[in-house]
This record gives sequence, structure tokens and C-alpha cells, in this order.
Amino acid sequence: MVSFVLTLSSTFSRLNLLPKTSLVHTVRALRTLQQRKPTWSLYNSSFKSISAQISTSNLNSPKPHAENVGIGDDLVVLGIETSCDDTAASVVRSNGEILSQVVSSQADLLAQYGGVAPKMAEEAHLRVIDQVVQEALDKANLTEKDLSAVAVTIGPGLSLCLRVGVRKARKIAGSFNLPIIGVHHMEAHALVARLIERELQFPFMALLISGGHNLLILASDLGQYIQLGTTIDDAIGEAYDKTAKWLGLDMRRSGGPAVEELAREGDAESVKFSIPMKQYKDCNFSYAGLKTQVRLAIESRNINAGIPISSASFQDRSSRADIAASFQRVAVLHLEERCERAIEWALKLEPSIKHLVVSGGVASNQYVRARLDQVVQKNNLQLVCPPPSLCTDNGVMVAWTGIEHFRMGRFDPPPSASEPEDSLYDLRPRWPLGEEYAEGRSEARSLRRARIHPSLTSLIQASLQQQA
Ligand code: KG4
Ligand code: ZN
Repeated sequence: MVSFVLTLSSTFSRLNLLPKTSLVHTVRALRTLQQRKPTWSLYNSSFKSISAQISTSNLNSPKPHAENVGIGDDLVVLGIETSCDDTAASVVRSNGEILSQVVSSQADLLAQYGGVAPKMAEEAHLRVIDQVVQEALDKANLTEKDLSAVAVTIGPGLSLCLRVGVRKARKIAGSFNLPIIGVHHMEAHALVARLIERELQFPFMALLISGGHNLLILASDLGQYIQLGTTIDDAIGEAYDKTAKWLGLDMRRSGGPAVEELAREGDAESVKFSIPMKQYKDCNFSYAGLKTQVRLAIESRNINAGIPISSASFQDRSSRADIAASFQRVAVLHLEERCERAIEWALKLEPSIKHLVVSGGVASNQYVRARLDQVVQKNNLQLVCPPPSLCTDNGVMVAWTGIEHFRMGRFDPPPSASEPEDSLYDLRPRWPLGEEYAEGRSEARSLRRARIHPSLTSLIQASLQQQA
């Protein structure tokens, strides 16, 4: 078996080392960037050992915003997303125009297994990836030849699934001599807010809530993130999904929307769940304990998840609705409490912050939005919440994040057109977005910090230092 470790790591500044066939790309990319010298490569593996610490002192110094530095408009970028259970592709213009958006979800598999089974998910991605990408191009009325670059999620996520998207992206990029941009999935959830709200400038805060992540970040600049809080166990989306499964809800649209819908019928004060981590005065999250509380409440009421909600008696249904509503209230109270504290911390670091972005699948929940809007208003900030179709996993956010980095000269040259199908890629299943805010480090969290890759922010800082 011929296998190469492809690191997605070649730098734009190394373009002059590329073989002749890449000169067309060099010229095209140089034109696009109007001769701007790139400052950094997102994926240079030489930064692997460097773990830059973020000092709060440099946060208050004025810094150029991406839009001031960035050049290269009139880009058309294809974004591919396969990090979890949705196969998504989209074509986006650098002026923010969404030319197409296609998502194929594995809802049936989710309903069948009550969660994402990596091997099944990989197979499902493989079945539809070509069709999804083709449809995205067709809907945009474009062919690969019209693209400026391909952006693809390289982490965090399930390796087997990420691989499907990366292989497809590299195939297209190799065949059509296009630059490629590896994208951080959670950064994409945050940055898509800048596509829909053009007033949204750095610095801003973001609460990113999905099936696998619960992150509170301070976004100082493009690629510069401070992690104010994260989950020490499960993410809120996982708690919604399990609650839905144990309540016998229809999981075909994923668990979250089903719980949200049923919760509207219930009494949110009826079941006394306790708010997680009250004793920890930090911004981290925990949903494993709440999940257990929900399971015990379900068991004590003899609710049989084998009886689907559609067949439940009136009394059984109302009992399930009470649990759904009570769970949702406490799950979101935990978010509210952490956001309050994070806003306090963030404003001390960056007093000019005006926005809190709330994104990720759970941010499509109307109750979550309404409650967080109150928190934000109380603190004289503005809530920016992408529309639901851009909160759940999608290709638009990947294409847009690709555009943001491409404008800064952060991309890799086209792969070889003859790259073997069984190549190994530098995927980043566990890839922190930013360095942990030192003063907010929690005891609970410090017990569980295994990681594989240095954070996106530390890679960027190391490269900037190298350029200086
Ligand atoms: O961001 P996302 O699409 O995928 C991941 O990166 O995980 O988030 C998926 C999660 C699932 O747990 C799903 O149940 C949850 O988002 N979700 C919701 C809602 N819509 C999706 N949770 C609560 N209410 C919703 N309306
Ligand atoms: Zn996501």
C-alpha cells in the first residue's frame, strides 16, 4: 500500500518551490492576492511543538482587522463539511453571496442508532459526497473551473468522516489546480456570523453549542481565540439528543428539535433538576450529570421509550413534556450563567466588545436564543445568531471561513493531481480552537485535558512570531 502523510502543510510562501505545473496556480493566486506577501501558513507542521501562551497584555493593543489587511475579492469558494453526520457542500462568493447550499443528513441512521456510529457515518458520507458536491456546483451554476479555491473541514470531528471530505476536496483541488484551505469546524461555526452580520468586527465573543462542543470564546482577531470555557464532559447537544431518545421522541430531525417542540407543552418548573457546576465560579460546562438526572426522572415515572411519543397516552405525553421542558430550562440556565460570567471576563480583557455570537446546532433553538438575548441585552451587548440553517452543520460556514483565511494568504497550494486514493491525511479529530484563559482555568477541567494538536491560535501565533 502506498501511503503518504499529507500534512496540508505546504505554505503559500513555498510556492516558488513547486514544480512547473503549479505555476499557473501561482500566477492566479498572486493575482488574486494582488502581490500581497502572505504572513502565515495555517498548517505548517513545523509549528507542532510550539504551544504559545496568550498573554492578556497584548490583547489591548490595536491590531489590524482582517478586512483591513485582506485583499483578494471576487473569490468563489467551494466549502465541504463531513466532520460528523451531515454531508454538506456550498459555494460562496467573497462578497458574502451564498450561491448554493446542499446538506444531506443521516437522520435515519441517527434515529436507528440513537447517535452517530462512526463507521456507518463514514459509509453514508461516501455514498453521497460526490452527489452533494455536484449539486452544490450545479445550483451555483458553476463548474470546478470557476472556483478560486476549495475549503474543507479538517477537524475537530470523527477521523473516518473528516477523511471523506478531505479526500474529495483534494481530488477537486488537484484536478483543477486550486488552492486548498483546511478549516477548523468550530471556527467556522463562529465566523459564519460575520457573513450574515457584516457589522460584526473583532473582537467579539462567541458561545458555540453543538453535539460535540460547548465553547465560550473571545475572538480577538481572525484565528486568534481565547477559550474562556469548554465542557468537562458532554456538550449540550448530546444532552438534548439523549433526552429525546429516552423520552421516545422522533429523532429523524435529530433530538434537539424534538425536545424543543415537546417542551412547549410542558411545565418547566415541574421537575426539579439542579443546575450543573454551581460551585465552580468559572465558564466551563458539564452536561453529563444533567443527563443522569433526566434518565433517573424518566425511570422513576415509568416512561417507556419503546412507546413512541405519538402513541403515548395523554397523561404519559404530558409527563414526558414536563421532563423535556424542565430539562431544557436547566440546560439553558447553565448556558446563561456561564455567559454572564464570560461577558464579565471578556469585557475586562477587551472593553470594546459589542457582540455575542451564538452558533452551532443548538443555537437554532428558539428558547435558547430568547434566553440568551436577555442576558446579552442586560449587558448592553448585541446577540448575533445565524439563521438555523447556518447554525447546524453546513458547507457555507466552511466556504466562508476559507474565504476569510484565503484573503489573509493562509492556504495551501494545489495537491498533486495524481495523489493516491489511499493517502493518509493530517486530520485533527481533537483540535482546540484557542488557548485556555489562564485565570479561568478550572480544577474540574484540568483533570481532562488530553489533546492531540496544538490549538489553531497557537499555530497562528507561532507563525506570526516566525514572520516578525
Ligand atoms: O453543530 P451541529 O449541527 O453538529 C455538530 O457539530 O455537533 O449540532 C448538532 C446538535 C445536535 O445535538 C442536535 O440535537 C442539536 O445540535 N440541535 C438542537 C436543535 N437543532 C439542532 N438542539 C436543541 N434545539 C434545536 N432546535
Ligand atoms: Zn457543528
